[in-house]
Amino acid sequence: MAQKVFGIDFGSDSTKIYRKGQGVVYNQKSVIAFKNHTKILAIGDEAFEMYGKTPESINVTFPIAHGVINSFANMLSLLNCMFLDLERVFGKFRGSEYYVAVPSDITEVEKKAFYDLVDGTLVRPKRIRLVEKPIADAIGAGVDIVKSQGTMVVNIGSETTEISIISLGGILFSKLLPIGGRTFNENIINMIRRKYNLLIGEKTAESLKLELANFSSKRDDSMNAFGRDLVTGLPRESLVTTELVNDAISESMQSIFENIRVILDRTPPEIAADVYHNGICLTGGSANLPGLSFLFSTNLGNNKVTVSDFGVMTVTNGLAKIMEDRYYDRYAVSLKQALAEDKFPL
Ligand SMILES: Nc1ncnc2c1ncn2[C@@H]1O[C@H](COP(=O)(O)OP(=O)(O)OP(=O)(O)O)[C@@H](O)[C@H]1O
Ligand SMILES: [Mg+2]
Repeated sequence: MAQKVFGIDFGSDSTKIYRKGQGVVYNQKSVIAFKNHTKILAIGDEAFEMYGKTPESINVTFPIAHGVINSFANMLSLLNCMFLDLERVFGKFRGSEYYVAVPSDITEVEKKAFYDLVDGTLVRPKRIRLVEKPIADAIGAGVDIVKSQGTMVVNIGSETTEISIISLGGILFSKLLPIGGRTFNENIINMIRRKYNLLIGEKTAESLKLELANFSSKRDDSMNAFGRDLVTGLPRESLVTTELVNDAISESMQSIFENIRVILDRTPPEIAADVYHNGICLTGGSANLPGLSFLFSTNLGNNKVTVSDFGVMTVTNGLAKIMEDRYYDRYAVSLKQALAEDKFPL
């Protein structure tokens, strides 16, 4: 029987909720739209539809930014609305339990904010436990985290890239970079502005990325992109190629590679050697970029780069395993434990 136990991955792009014994029950944009700054107009995917098209009286906000809560009040409103929607389908949530995935490389205050968020909702949780995101991510991707001595997991999401080294069931190192799929979109917007004097919107950039980006082969596709000519001010279209999109995204990719090189450089030699042998596991939505494992292999000199089958759902899948399998239960900790444990010895 399905129980009232939920696992939540609050992403900068989308919030994913898993219900124990049942499966994923929510996966929508982490977005809330207000009218006149107070009245909630829409949440989730419906609110995101309005993004970039609204009059001044409506504002569409993303309360999670770069992996942390940037507006507690807006996120609380959003979460209360999500729970209300879910309660309509599943009945009352009162007295339920929550497993919340939190990034490792953030401050104690930022970690506690995730706890306070769920604790502050109208559903009055019975128990909240925190799970370090890199652990959930690795378990979700299928890494044998207990036996594995030195595996690198790189979660490339929407506004973050979380680079972690997992060894013998713990996190040896984790770094959260403010780079992700939205950064790639900005790279594309900037490059098209520079090259063609054309200003395109973020949703157009996202479509260009999904249609054209490909690091695997010499495949060169192209697609027309509409925007505003920066000289005449009139709408115009330009032909955009795979090469341009790849070049634009490469700017941010180089920064990710540079960070990985620095991390490996600072890692004790035995563990660095293990990472070399065990390889690098790519997770998160942006790991779906075609040919990304090839790009990583060539830039980092590691030919064991794999991509998680679960993509955006990798962390959620890990939470699911932790909730369903008692063997993994030790990875869900109380707020006190989460704040007390020093997991970053490097
Ligand atoms: N096939 C694909 N190719 C390239 N990018 C993709 C693909 N599918 C999804 N993405 C990108 O993945 C991102 C969303 O990934 P994900 O759900 O892991 O992010 P998030 O968890 O919400 O954010 P974060 O972890 O950064 O806080 C979006 O930026 C989207 O553009
Ligand atoms: Mg994420």
